[in-house]
Amino acid sequence: MKSIILTGDRPSGCLHLGHYVGSLQNRVLLQDDYEQYVMIADVQALTDNFEHPQKITQNVYEVAKDYLSVGIDPDKTTILIQSQIPQIAELAIYYLNLVSLARLERNPTVKTEITQKGYDESIPAGFFCYPVHQAADITIFGAQLVPVGEDQLPMIEQTNEIVRKFNRIYNTECLTECQAYLSKSSRLVGIDGKAKASKSLGNAIFLSDSKEEIKRKIFQMYTDPDHIKVSDPGKVEGNVVFAYLDAFCLDKEKVQDLKSHYQKGGLGDVTIKNILNETLQNLLEPISQKRQELSDDYVHDVLLAGSKKAYAKAQKTIEYVRDAIGINYFSR
Ligand code: TRP
Repeated sequence: MKSIILTGDRPSGCLHLGHYVGSLQNRVLLQDDYEQYVMIADVQALTDNFEHPQKITQNVYEVAKDYLSVGIDPDKTTILIQSQIPQIAELAIYYLNLVSLARLERNPTVKTEITQKGYDESIPAGFFCYPVHQAADITIFGAQLVPVGEDQLPMIEQTNEIVRKFNRIYNTECLTECQAYLSKSSRLVGIDGKAKASKSLGNAIFLSDSKEEIKRKIFQMYTDPDHIKVSDPGKVEGNVVFAYLDAFCLDKEKVQDLKSHYQKGGLGDVTIKNILNETLQNLLEPISQKRQELSDDYVHDVLLAGSKKAYAKAQKTIEYVRDAIGINYFSR
């Protein structure tokens, strides 16, 4: 039997190159050897977007198209919409009994987000508890492996604490502990060079960007402010163009030669940007082509079939869970 994988994304916008190197590429590779579930986490996205749900609902199809266009294959990977699996919410309710407020407060990722979102005054309880919900996402499918970025490690840790506590208290083995699977490539920096690429910071190249947008963003990239004349020696560290060449150019020797040349002087920003532009256009062209071929009807069918399959799997887990707690009054 194949091991089970679950990952997810909040559909608060389209996916970008940071997602591509951080998780999407991995999923395409892993789908051959694992039973893989990929969740469009709309319920989680609502925890900090509850006032404007359209921002989330509008992006569900966009994210699904991002998945399909990079090669996540619905015959191998179950793509599901979180809100369509109510068993997850039920499981989260049982889990909330097992977690203290103090423990929730200690989650470093949530702490950072609370500050970023200006929630210090009044934190929505749903948002505060989303790691518990995420524990339900993972365990309802019995996932053993969770491919995520480093910022999600606290969620995995909290999930396993809940699993151990649940199994101990209800004297069962119905829940499985999971492990994080960290991507080998490091985080992709934003085109401004300041922080990681992110949709909220507006510094990312999206998988769905047009050719012109890609080029425009490349030509905006932060390089080396002291590299003024072509003949000046330039810095490669902190230079976004080289960070992207490292991440996306398969010809490592060529990148190395460009770096040495740039450091010596005599290689202009326009030249390296043109090289990066060619690299990214070549990468994104087939993705964009594939995206255009995806009809909304097809995406609808993929999401419906995936959600149905996930629902059936979740139903099995929730029945075990109800048995363990003893609230299975009508089943025998
Ligand atoms: N919290 C994840 C993020 O912000 C998204 C997510 C929701 C997720 N549920 C998950 C990731 C379950 C892994 C497993 O990116």
